[in-house]
Amino acid sequence: MQTCLEWAAAGQTLPFQVVAPDGAQTALERPTDYLLVDSEGRPPLSDLVAMTQALDLVLLPTGTTRPEIVSTIRLWGELRAAGTTDRVRVLVTRAAPVGHAGRDARDALRGAGLTVLDTVVRRLAAYERAAEVGGLVRDVQDPRAGEAWSDIQGVAREVK
Ligand SMILES: Nc1ncnc2c1ncn2[C@@H]1O[C@H](COP(=O)(O)OP(=O)(O)OP(=O)(O)O)[C@@H](O)[C@H]1O
Ligand SMILES: [Mg+2]
Repeated sequence: MQTCLEWAAAGQTLPFQVVAPDGAQTALERPTDYLLVDSEGRPPLSDLVAMTQALDLVLLPTGTTRPEIVSTIRLWGELRAAGTTDRVRVLVTRAAPVGHAGRDARDALRGAGLTVLDTVVRRLAAYERAAEVGGLVRDVQDPRAGEAWSDIQGVAREVK
């Protein structure tokens, strides 16, 4: 989250507002289409459960390695035991851009009963570039910026 604030501060003008938690209340007094909350890394289960109760949708990002898949399946089970997974979606990200590891991970997670977005976000250097300049991935100077942006648009279409 600190990183988000730094990106936004360093960055070119973003077409959305980035606020710290203590500024969220004031920001939400203005008309708002979407509120996107970036949690800390690996939040405690109780925080995640609270998020599934307070928000319309909670995305659980996962990579494609076996340990990541295993811990995502375990987390899903914990969320289901603690409440509900109705508002939870898994997103496979940082998938190798060549081959089908991303789709395989998605299908394996589905096979285990998790709800997983169709879109798989590929591991592309354009995202690193975007983070460096604090801008949108569609605008960075990178031959694959368009592909990176299209993955993000895929996610956006599925969650809106
Ligand atoms: N799909 C991707 N392909 C390549 N690089 C990526 C991708 N997603 C994220 N990155 C890079 O990894 C960095 C960290 O990404 P991100 O902030 O999404 O991860 P995180 O798990 O939330 O990290 P943190 O624990 O620091 O919050 C980004 O700055 C970006 O450079
Ligand atoms: Mg993070």
